[in-house]
Amino acid sequence: MPTPSMEDYLERIYKLIDEKGYARVSDIAEGLEVHPSSVTKMIQKLDKDEYLIYEKYRGLVLTSKGKKVGKRLVDRHQLLEEFLSLIGVQQEHIYKDVEGIEHHLSWDSITRIETLVEYFRRDEARVQTLYDIHQELANES
Ligand code: CO
Repeated sequence: MPTPSMEDYLERIYKLIDEKGYARVSDIAEGLEVHPSSVTKMIQKLDKDEYLIYEKYRGLVLTSKGKKVGKRLVDRHQLLEEFLSLIGVQQEHIYKDVEGIEHHLSWDSITRIETLVEYFRRDEARVQTLYDIHQELANES
């Protein structure tokens, strides 16, 4: 399994290729707020572990393993954003909070959260009940 840091890179690279068709070192560095030399180092590691193939002139291509893992990580990020948004977390906190927790949850927890999101999706009234309880607790304190 990739380390949390490798996960961040794979997630970013998958998203860039998905959205723009390619992933440049400068775009990866900017998105992760790291120095381009760190990106180059990590790309070499990801290449060695067969998540991608890096060629100086052709650029960076994800292997099928890299695509599979990358998609899983992007989906996980989206699910957690949806979850926090659903339970009423303010938009301004969501991205940072997801970045903080996504690498530290087991897939067991992730699939349970997925089920919980589905539980709320199936009946809007459940979301309203949740907000009502939140309001009630907030008023008590
Ligand atoms: Co993420």
